[in-house]
Order: sequence, then C-alpha cells, then structure tokens
Amino acid sequence: MKLPAHFYQPLAIGAPAPIRELPVRLERMIHFVPPHIEKMRAKVPDLVARVDVILGNLEDAIPADAKEAARAGFIEMAEANEFGNTGLWTRINCLNSPWALDDVTQTVAAIGNKLDVIMLPKVEGVWDIHYLDQLLAQLEARHNVAKPILIHAILETAQGVKNVDEIASASPRMHGMSLGPADLAASRGMKTTRVGGGHPFYGVLADPSDVDPSEARGFYQQDLWHYTVARMVDACASNGIKAFYGPFGDFSDLDACRAQFRNAFLQGCLGAWSLHPTQIDIAKEVFSPDAGEVDFAKRILEAMPDGTGAVLIDGKMQDDATWKQAKVIVDLAKLVAGKDPDRAAAYGF
Ligand code: GLV
Ligand code: MG
Repeated sequence: MKLPAHFYQPLAIGAPAPIRELPVRLERMIHFVPPHIEKMRAKVPDLVARVDVILGNLEDAIPADAKEAARAGFIEMAEANEFGNTGLWTRINCLNSPWALDDVTQTVAAIGNKLDVIMLPKVEGVWDIHYLDQLLAQLEARHNVAKPILIHAILETAQGVKNVDEIASASPRMHGMSLGPADLAASRGMKTTRVGGGHPFYGVLADPSDVDPSEARGFYQQDLWHYTVARMVDACASNGIKAFYGPFGDFSDLDACRAQFRNAFLQGCLGAWSLHPTQIDIAKEVFSPDAGEVDFAKRILEAMPDGTGAVLIDGKMQDDATWKQAKVIVDLAKLVAGKDPDRAAAYGF
C-alpha cells in the first residue's frame, strides 16, 4: 500500500503537484456534445454561456468509424473556444478499447492546459484510476501542463459498485463520480431496456384492504437507482469528491427526467448529465436550491450565529445538525448566484 506521505507527490518528474482540495465550481449539468458533428461543434460558443460543463464525448454513442473524427473534433472545439468558468471535460473510450490511449495522449498533447476533467468509463477498481493517474502525470510533464487534469469515474459496472469506496479514494486526482445506469443495468443483468429512470414493474404492492378485500390495491413505483446513488454519495462525500447522476435517455419525458434528477439532488448529488438541450434547464432548476429552502436555511443560520444550541423556527426544532444542512444549501445558493443573476435575485443575494 502506498504510504500516506506519498499520496500527494507528483507521479512524474515535472508534473504539477496534485491538488489537495477540489476547486469550487458549479457543475449542475455536464452537457454532452458529439464532437465529430460539425453542426454540434458550431453550437459550442452558445453553450459556453448556457451550461456549467461542456463535455466532448468520445465513447458510447459515437460510432466506431467516427472515433478519430470525434477526437479531432473535440480538440478543434477546445482550441477554437474560450470556456471561462465553464468546465471543459471529455469522456474518453474505456481503457481496454483500441482508442483510449490515443484519446488521452492526443488530447493532453494538444489541449492539456484547457482540459479540466477526463471522464473515465467502466471503472472497475483502483487499478483503472492508478493507470490513468500515472499516464496523465507523464503526459502533463511532457507537455508542460500547469495544473493537474482531474479524473471523473463512471460507476457503471457491478464490480465498480463493489469497489466504489476504494475508487473514490484512489488518487488526489479524483474529481468525482457519475452513476451510469445503462451500462450498470447491463452489467448487473437487470431486466430493463432503458437509460436511467424508473420502471413500471419495479414497485411495492399495498396490502389488501381488511374492510373490503375486493378493493383495488395500490401499486407504488420505486426508484431503481436509490441504492446505488446512496452508495456512490457516501463514497464520494466521505472522500471529499463529488457525486453526479448520469444520463436520462427518454428525451420525451421531461417530468420523469426531473423526478430522477431531483431524487439524486436530494440524496446528495451535485449535478447530472444533459444529453439533450431540454435537459439543461431541468438540471438548472433541480440542482439550484429552491428559493423557499434557501430562505428558510438563511433564517436558521441567522438564528444560530455560532452554529450551536437549539432554536424553534415556525415550530420546527433547529440545532447544530440542521445548521450544517442549512449551510450546505446557502453555500450552494451563493455559488449559483455568482453565475445566475435571476436566481441571485430570487435568493436575495
Ligand atoms: C452511461 O454511460 C451509462 O452507461 O448509463
Ligand atoms: Mg455507459
């Protein structure tokens, strides 16, 4: 096992020092762009102003014969635009594919100083993170990259879920994790054909009525992803990294997308993927705290200036623990307000 004293040492001579704390950034949605399509690349300047993170997708959904074009298109769109405080990420192909090595070496060589995060799919265990960590350090040194490129793992295999805690603590380069429900469903042998969301057959049947056994029994659909999101959030939060819900594939069902995103937000996730422009606004709405909640949270902080003791607000008991919950909401609201003047006004900042 690596000694704690070595954890924050650069993995290559000349590589930038690993970070000790993640940069504070708003990442309510990670917006996927297929970079081999010129029409899509042309939308990037507008997207920079609209989204929190732009991701050039090189992996699934890019046809095998367009992989090189997607990589070249991503480099082109990164070179052609200024991203300001909007994050620039890429999702590379998985490590056992024929494209992964060139995805990493070519993007870091060309745009290593612009790239914030590499999303690594199908992470099974720490060995995947350690490999990419070492390779990135070598490439950063070779190409004079000034700040470490972070790694974001997709949690989308049964083995990855089993190893989620070790993955979260594998390296100071870890930015966070996204739940990948489509690959995870396949890996687990789940009997579904969807990209995220619920399933009408997964639920709980109410007991028969004692009074009238012939009365129709309620059936209550449950969240298929509750367990995995909870495990991921615990692994991430306990290691100081960020948790995200991934894709929602039914673009025609905005309400179901909103419900899935909201469950993830309430459970501790900071954002989700947007695969379609309509999902950008849903993510903004869901992953920005509700103005009423912010108002109440501000009242808690004001009523308990040093965060200790107990007070009643509107008949509800507040103590150190609710003070900490309130602080999470107010800190996030401040971050949102810095980027979003309408919400800043609604929050009263
Ligand atoms: C995302 O990559 C997924 O498999 O859901
Ligand atoms: Mg996947």
